[in-house]
Amino acid sequence: MRIIKRIAELRQAVRGMKRRGRSIGFVPTMGALHEGHLSLIRKARRETDWVIVSLFINPIQFNRRSDFRSYPRVLAQDARKAAGAGADALFAPSAVEIYPPDFQTSVEVERLSRRWEGRSRPGHFRGVATVVAKLFHLVQPDIAYFGQKDAQQARIVRQMIRDLNFDIRLRILPTIRELGGLAMSSRNQLLSSSARRPSRLLFEALQEARRLIQWGERRGSVVVRRMRQIIHKSSKARIDYAAIVNPKTLEPVEKLQGKVQVLLAVWIGPVRLIDNIQCYVPS
Ligand code: PAJ
Repeated sequence: MRIIKRIAELRQAVRGMKRRGRSIGFVPTMGALHEGHLSLIRKARRETDWVIVSLFINPIQFNRRSDFRSYPRVLAQDARKAAGAGADALFAPSAVEIYPPDFQTSVEVERLSRRWEGRSRPGHFRGVATVVAKLFHLVQPDIAYFGQKDAQQARIVRQMIRDLNFDIRLRILPTIRELGGLAMSSRNQLLSSSARRPSRLLFEALQEARRLIQWGERRGSVVVRRMRQIIHKSSKARIDYAAIVNPKTLEPVEKLQGKVQVLLAVWIGPVRLIDNIQCYVPS
C-alpha cells in the first residue's frame, strides 16, 4: 500500500487511475482505525478497483482544543490495518497541506447542521463538510463509504453531494459494535476502565427503544423518557440529547410512523459518545 502525503502526488495517482478506467473507492477517516473503519475499507475493496483511505485529523471540525489534542494518533498502526483490509493507498496529508495559511472558504449544509451534533458542537459540520468537499475534489471517487454510526454526518454528506452536484455514489454501512453493544469509535480508547460499563447503557437504551416500538408504542416522548431512565442508571452518564427523528429531515417526531431514527449523545465522564439505530414502524 502506498502512503501519499502530498496533494500533487495524490492528483497524479488519481489521474493515472482515471486514465486507465479504474473505479475509485474512497474511505475518509481521522485514523485510529478500528473494525468500523475496516468494514468500510473491505466493502470498498469488493466494489471498486482502487481503494484509497484518507487519514486526516481535521482541525476545523473540533470545537474543543482538548478533544483535538487528545485524539489518538497512530499512523504506522493505521497504515498496517488499512493495508490488511485491502486499501491500495493511504492519503495522510499535513494540516498545512490541506489548510494553507490563507485558506478562507467553507461549505455549510445549513438546516441539517443546526440540531443535535451541530448544536452541541458549533462549527463541527462546517468543518466536516468543508474537508469532505475538498477530499472529494482531490480523490474524485466513484463511490464514497461512510458509517451509519455518524448518522447526521452521513445525511449531511448526502445532501452536500446533491446540492453541489458531486458525481459520487454514497454508501452508508451499518454500525460495527463491540461484544457488549458499544458502537466502535476511536474515542472509546479514551474511556477509563470504570467508564466501560456505563458506556454500554447507550446500546441498552437504544435496544429498549426498539423493543417499546415493536410492542406498539407510538408516542416518541414516551420512548425517549424510557431511554433517559436507562441512561440515568449510572451516575457517571450525562445525556446531551436523546431523540427520535425523521431520517430525512432530522426533525423530531412525536407520532411514530414509517422509518424513524433514534439518536443518543451521552457524556461518560470526560468522553462524549454518540450512537443511533433505525426503526421501521408499521402503521
Ligand atoms: P472517523 O470518526 O474516523 O470516521 C470515519 C468513518 O468511519 C465515518 O464514515 C464513520 O461514520 C465511520 N465509522 C466510525 N465508527 C464506525 C462504526 N462503529 N461502524 C461503522 N462505521 C463507523 O467521521 C469522520 O472520521 C470524520 O468526520 C471525516 C468524515 C473523516 C471528516 O473529517
